[in-house]
Amino acid sequence: MIGFIGSGQMARALATGFIQQGRLLGAEICFTNPGDTNADAFLQAAPGARRLASAELVVREAAQVWVAVKPQIIRGVLEPLASAFRSEQVLVSVAAGVTLGSLEKWTRHEKIVRVSPSTPAVVGQGISILSHSAAVTEIETDHVRSLLQTVGSAWEVPERLIDPISGLTSCGPAFVMTIIEALSDGAVRAGVPRHLANPLVLELLSGSIALVQKTGLHPAQLREQVASPAGSTIEGLVALEEGGLRAALINAVSSSSRRAGELGKLAMADDPATSQGSGG
Ligand SMILES: NC(=O)c1ccc[n+]([C@@H]2O[C@H](COP(=O)([O-])OP(=O)(O)OC[C@H]3O[C@@H](n4cnc5c(N)ncnc54)[C@H](OP(=O)(O)O)[C@@H]3O)[C@@H](O)[C@H]2O)c1
Repeated sequence: MIGFIGSGQMARALATGFIQQGRLLGAEICFTNPGDTNADAFLQAAPGARRLASAELVVREAAQVWVAVKPQIIRGVLEPLASAFRSEQVLVSVAAGVTLGSLEKWTRHEKIVRVSPSTPAVVGQGISILSHSAAVTEIETDHVRSLLQTVGSAWEVPERLIDPISGLTSCGPAFVMTIIEALSDGAVRAGVPRHLANPLVLELLSGSIALVQKTGLHPAQLREQVASPAGSTIEGLVALEEGGLRAALINAVSSSSRRAGELGKLAMADDPATSQGSGG
């Protein structure tokens, strides 16, 4: 039995993957969530799952517990559960920025896996970054990794890399959505109807990714191949440089990485009232 504490967007994406990829039956999942809206949506995504009245009941029933609440409240959710965890249980946290050390301290539990997932998990193409405490065995790590692989790829890294990578992989979908939207706007500005612009942008991105992957060439080489002397592409590239696209993207990733670390520190703060922001 896998248990979820919190059944919001990320828990739903994960449970959907576990079930759709045939790793679990709905009946092998239990969860708790205060509000009905997210609980009902979870039940739709994971038919047969059981909603329990408290996080303590989830810890008692589940062999593996996935905590998927916001970083700002995770301490208040986990601390009261400290005496409920059994030593053989694995606790998996998906909370942004919250360290293994904090999780161990709050739960007084040793087997902990920290995961930074991403929303494309909803369509089975997420990226999960994971790290675990020393007490988690290889078999237990493999089990968590294989569950994560039902919603995309899973990469084990040293914990110090989780926040820097999550600024790219967990926050990155929002950056890419902005790029998609802006490219479509550019096409519309040039006179392309929106109904053509939107699918063309998606084809452009997937084709460009395939070109990098299949040729193995550096993106700069591929860019040079398109930019002929005094041609139209070099005009667009100059506009990108003038607009600071490169610096904006570099800053976006590093700002999000830094904020992920801050969220973890806020979660560690003694006074929950000092917490700010929304996380994820
Ligand atoms: N979404 C992302 O792209 C993303 C990426 C990486 C990491 N994460 C991490 O994933 C975690 C969840 O994010 P999310 O996007 O899924 O947020 P979300 O949709 O807001 O889900 C959080 C859930 O926690 C529930 N909850 C609140 N208090 C609770 C309590 N005391 N006990 C049990 N459940 C409680 C909420 O219930 P109610 O709605 O009923 O209040 C809500 O369903 C966060 O820690 C975030 O950092 C998210």
